[in-house]
Amino acid sequence: MINLGILISGRGSNMAAILAAIKFGRIKNVKPCIIISNEPEAAGLKIASEKYSVPTKVIPADGFKGWDYDQKVVAALQEYGVTPQSGLVCLAGFMRIISPEFVRQYKMRILNIHPALLPSFPGLHAQKQALDHGAKITGCTVHFVDEGVDSGPVILQKAVPVVNGDDEGTLSTRILEQEHQLYPEAVRLFGEGRIKVQGRRVSIT
Ligand code: GAR
Repeated sequence: MINLGILISGRGSNMAAILAAIKFGRIKNVKPCIIISNEPEAAGLKIASEKYSVPTKVIPADGFKGWDYDQKVVAALQEYGVTPQSGLVCLAGFMRIISPEFVRQYKMRILNIHPALLPSFPGLHAQKQALDHGAKITGCTVHFVDEGVDSGPVILQKAVPVVNGDDEGTLSTRILEQEHQLYPEAVRLFGEGRIKVQGRRVSIT
Protein backbone atom coordinates (compact mmCIF):
# COMPACT_ATOMS: atom_id res chain seq x y z
CA MET A 1 0.00 0.00 0.00
CA ILE A 2 1.25 3.45 -0.91
CA ASN A 3 0.45 6.24 1.52
CA LEU A 4 -0.58 9.38 -0.31
CA GLY A 5 -0.23 13.02 0.73
CA ILE A 6 -1.73 15.75 -1.44
CA LEU A 7 -0.59 19.38 -1.28
CA ILE A 8 -3.08 22.05 -2.32
CA SER A 9 -3.51 25.82 -2.18
CA GLY A 10 -7.05 26.38 -3.42
CA ARG A 11 -10.00 24.77 -5.14
CA GLY A 12 -8.66 21.23 -4.98
CA SER A 13 -10.50 19.82 -7.99
CA ASN A 14 -7.55 17.65 -9.02
CA MET A 15 -7.27 16.45 -5.43
CA ALA A 16 -10.98 15.59 -5.50
CA ALA A 17 -10.57 13.69 -8.78
CA ILE A 18 -7.81 11.57 -7.22
CA LEU A 19 -9.78 10.98 -4.00
CA ALA A 20 -12.88 9.99 -6.00
CA ALA A 21 -10.88 7.53 -8.10
CA ILE A 22 -9.55 5.93 -4.90
CA LYS A 23 -12.94 5.91 -3.19
CA PHE A 24 -14.66 4.24 -6.13
CA GLY A 25 -11.94 1.63 -6.58
CA ARG A 26 -10.43 2.86 -9.82
CA ILE A 27 -7.11 3.28 -8.00
CA LYS A 28 -5.96 0.42 -5.83
CA ASN A 29 -2.93 0.17 -3.52
CA VAL A 30 -3.06 3.89 -2.69
CA LYS A 31 -4.37 5.22 0.62
CA PRO A 32 -5.01 8.96 1.04
CA CYS A 33 -3.46 9.87 4.41
CA ILE A 34 -3.23 13.65 4.59
CA ILE A 35 -4.17 16.77 2.63
CA ILE A 36 -1.94 19.75 3.36
CA SER A 37 -2.65 23.35 2.38
CA ASN A 38 -0.56 26.46 2.80
CA GLU A 39 -3.79 28.48 2.53
CA PRO A 40 -6.24 28.27 5.46
CA GLU A 41 -9.15 29.19 3.19
CA ALA A 42 -8.45 26.60 0.49
CA ALA A 43 -11.83 25.19 -0.61
CA GLY A 44 -10.25 21.78 -1.13
CA LEU A 45 -9.77 21.31 2.61
CA LYS A 46 -13.51 21.08 3.24
CA ILE A 47 -14.00 18.71 0.30
CA ALA A 48 -11.26 16.42 1.61
CA SER A 49 -12.59 16.22 5.14
CA GLU A 50 -16.35 16.36 4.54
CA LYS A 51 -16.73 14.42 1.31
CA TYR A 52 -13.80 12.01 1.54
CA SER A 53 -13.05 11.89 5.30
CA VAL A 54 -9.34 12.46 4.75
CA PRO A 55 -7.39 14.30 7.46
CA THR A 56 -6.33 17.84 6.58
CA LYS A 57 -3.69 20.18 7.90
CA VAL A 58 -3.01 23.85 7.23
CA ILE A 59 0.62 24.89 7.28
CA PRO A 60 0.67 28.64 6.62
CA ALA A 61 3.88 30.12 5.24
CA ASP A 62 4.17 32.70 8.07
CA GLY A 63 7.16 34.14 6.27
CA PHE A 64 8.99 30.81 6.13
CA LYS A 65 10.65 30.09 2.80
CA GLY A 66 12.28 27.15 1.05
CA TRP A 67 13.35 24.29 3.28
CA ASP A 68 12.44 26.29 6.42
CA TYR A 69 8.82 25.93 5.29
CA ASP A 70 9.08 22.57 3.57
CA GLN A 71 10.46 20.80 6.62
CA LYS A 72 7.15 21.48 8.35
CA VAL A 73 5.39 19.84 5.40
CA VAL A 74 7.75 16.87 5.47
CA ALA A 75 7.20 16.47 9.23
CA ALA A 76 3.43 16.40 8.68
CA LEU A 77 3.73 13.93 5.80
CA GLN A 78 5.85 11.62 7.98
CA GLU A 79 3.44 11.99 10.90
CA TYR A 80 0.69 10.65 8.64
CA GLY A 81 2.80 7.83 7.23
CA VAL A 82 3.73 9.40 3.90
CA THR A 83 7.41 8.46 4.03
CA PRO A 84 10.21 8.93 1.48
CA GLN A 85 10.53 5.14 1.29
CA SER A 86 6.99 4.16 0.45
CA GLY A 87 4.89 7.32 0.20
CA LEU A 88 3.64 9.40 -2.69
CA VAL A 89 3.21 13.18 -2.67
CA CYS A 90 0.93 14.83 -5.23
CA LEU A 91 1.08 18.55 -5.83
CA ALA A 92 -2.38 19.61 -6.94
CA GLY A 93 -2.51 23.34 -7.49
CA PHE A 94 0.06 23.83 -4.72
CA MET A 95 1.29 27.32 -5.48
CA ARG A 96 4.72 27.09 -3.91
CA ILE A 97 8.01 25.99 -5.35
CA ILE A 98 9.33 22.92 -3.60
CA SER A 99 12.84 23.19 -2.15
CA PRO A 100 15.70 20.98 -3.39
CA GLU A 101 15.91 19.38 0.07
CA PHE A 102 12.27 18.24 -0.13
CA VAL A 103 12.74 16.96 -3.69
CA ARG A 104 15.87 14.99 -2.73
CA GLN A 105 14.18 13.38 0.27
CA TYR A 106 11.22 12.19 -1.80
CA LYS A 107 13.19 11.43 -4.94
CA MET A 108 10.86 10.38 -7.76
CA ARG A 109 7.98 10.20 -5.30
CA ILE A 110 6.54 13.70 -5.89
CA LEU A 111 4.16 14.27 -8.81
CA ASN A 112 2.77 17.51 -10.19
CA ILE A 113 0.12 18.44 -12.72
CA HIS A 114 0.67 21.38 -15.01
CA PRO A 115 -1.92 22.89 -17.38
CA ALA A 116 0.25 22.86 -20.53
CA LEU A 117 2.23 20.41 -22.62
CA LEU A 118 5.63 20.75 -20.94
CA PRO A 119 8.28 21.88 -21.72
CA SER A 120 6.04 24.54 -23.31
CA PHE A 121 4.60 27.19 -21.02
CA PRO A 122 6.03 26.33 -17.58
CA GLY A 123 5.36 28.48 -14.54
CA LEU A 124 2.32 30.59 -13.77
CA HIS A 125 -0.68 31.25 -16.07
CA ALA A 126 0.20 28.44 -18.48
CA GLN A 127 -3.16 28.65 -20.25
CA LYS A 128 -2.75 32.40 -20.85
CA GLN A 129 0.79 31.82 -22.04
CA ALA A 130 -0.52 29.34 -24.63
CA LEU A 131 -3.21 31.78 -25.80
CA ASP A 132 -0.83 34.73 -25.96
CA HIS A 133 1.64 32.65 -27.94
CA GLY A 134 -1.04 31.68 -30.44
CA ALA A 135 -0.58 27.96 -29.85
CA LYS A 136 -3.18 25.77 -31.60
CA ILE A 137 -2.68 22.85 -29.27
CA THR A 138 -1.92 22.87 -25.57
CA GLY A 139 -2.94 20.45 -22.84
CA CYS A 140 -1.78 19.09 -19.52
CA THR A 141 1.17 17.17 -18.14
CA VAL A 142 1.74 14.98 -15.11
CA HIS A 143 5.42 14.87 -14.27
CA PHE A 144 7.85 13.98 -11.52
CA VAL A 145 9.05 16.97 -9.58
CA ASP A 146 12.77 17.68 -9.78
CA GLU A 147 14.74 20.64 -8.55
CA GLY A 148 13.62 22.94 -11.37
CA VAL A 149 10.26 24.56 -12.09
CA ASP A 150 7.95 22.21 -14.05
CA SER A 151 11.06 20.52 -15.43
CA GLY A 152 10.97 16.92 -14.15
CA PRO A 153 10.48 13.77 -16.23
CA VAL A 154 7.11 13.64 -18.00
CA ILE A 155 4.81 10.75 -17.06
CA LEU A 156 1.58 11.42 -19.00
CA GLN A 157 0.34 14.17 -21.30
CA LYS A 158 -2.95 14.96 -22.94
CA ALA A 159 -3.37 17.40 -25.82
CA VAL A 160 -6.22 19.93 -25.84
CA PRO A 161 -7.01 22.12 -28.86
CA VAL A 162 -7.21 25.89 -28.62
CA VAL A 163 -10.36 26.97 -30.49
CA ASN A 164 -11.47 30.24 -32.03
CA GLY A 165 -12.82 32.61 -29.44
CA ASP A 166 -11.13 30.90 -26.49
CA ASP A 167 -10.26 33.04 -23.53
CA GLU A 168 -8.28 32.02 -20.48
CA GLY A 169 -11.44 30.80 -18.76
CA THR A 170 -12.81 28.61 -21.53
CA LEU A 171 -9.40 27.11 -22.31
CA SER A 172 -8.66 26.47 -18.63
CA THR A 173 -11.99 24.68 -18.23
CA ARG A 174 -11.33 22.46 -21.26
CA ILE A 175 -7.85 21.59 -19.99
CA LEU A 176 -9.11 20.99 -16.45
CA GLU A 177 -11.52 18.30 -17.68
CA GLN A 178 -8.52 16.42 -19.04
CA GLU A 179 -6.46 17.05 -15.90
CA HIS A 180 -9.15 15.26 -13.92
CA GLN A 181 -8.65 12.15 -16.07
CA LEU A 182 -4.88 12.33 -16.35
CA TYR A 183 -3.85 12.84 -12.73
CA PRO A 184 -5.81 9.89 -11.28
CA GLU A 185 -4.46 7.75 -14.12
CA ALA A 186 -0.87 8.66 -13.21
CA VAL A 187 -1.53 7.90 -9.53
CA ARG A 188 -3.06 4.56 -10.54
CA LEU A 189 0.02 3.66 -12.57
CA PHE A 190 2.30 4.72 -9.71
CA GLY A 191 0.29 2.62 -7.27
CA GLU A 192 0.61 -0.38 -9.56
CA GLY A 193 4.39 0.12 -9.73
CA ARG A 194 4.22 0.53 -13.48
CA ILE A 195 6.18 3.78 -13.87
CA LYS A 196 9.87 3.29 -14.67
CA VAL A 197 12.28 6.23 -14.95
CA GLN A 198 15.57 6.17 -16.81
CA GLY A 199 17.15 9.60 -16.88
CA ARG A 200 14.48 11.88 -18.31
CA ARG A 201 12.59 9.06 -19.95
CA VAL A 202 9.58 7.53 -18.27
CA SER A 203 8.13 4.28 -19.48
CA ILE A 204 4.86 2.70 -18.47
CA THR A 205 5.25 -1.04 -18.09
C1 GAR B 1 -4.86 23.23 -12.12
O1 GAR B 1 -5.25 23.70 -13.36
C2 GAR B 1 -3.39 22.85 -12.13
O2 GAR B 1 -2.98 22.27 -13.33
C3 GAR B 1 -2.76 24.20 -11.93
O3 GAR B 1 -3.55 24.84 -10.96
C4 GAR B 1 -4.88 24.35 -11.08
C5 GAR B 1 -5.31 23.86 -9.72
O4 GAR B 1 -6.68 23.57 -9.74
N1 GAR B 1 -1.40 24.09 -11.51
C6 GAR B 1 -0.45 24.92 -11.90
O5 GAR B 1 -0.64 25.86 -12.65
C7 GAR B 1 0.93 24.61 -11.36
N2 GAR B 1 1.93 25.33 -12.07
P1 GAR B 1 -7.31 22.64 -8.61
O6 GAR B 1 -6.95 23.28 -7.26
O7 GAR B 1 -8.77 22.72 -8.87
O8 GAR B 1 -6.75 21.26 -8.75
